[in-house]
Amino acid sequence: MTEKDPVVCTCNEIRQSDIEKAIREKGLKTIEEVGNETTAGTMCGGCVDEIYLMLEKINGNVDL
Ligand code: FES
Repeated sequence: MTEKDPVVCTCNEIRQSDIEKAIREKGLKTIEEVGNETTAGTMCGGCVDEIYLMLEKINGNVDL
């Protein structure tokens, strides 16, 4: 399962599905909102780019 649902934020062990769910269910639009909801991206910041891409993809701003 780890390959299908990788840990995006290793600092806080937040998985891709947790972030996606939060973005979809709460209508999150920014890195800050994702951080507030899931704590992903709030430590080293190394996963922020990945979260940004997820936001863009789910919110339809880019075609990935
Ligand atoms: S990996 Fe997400 S804050 Fe460090």
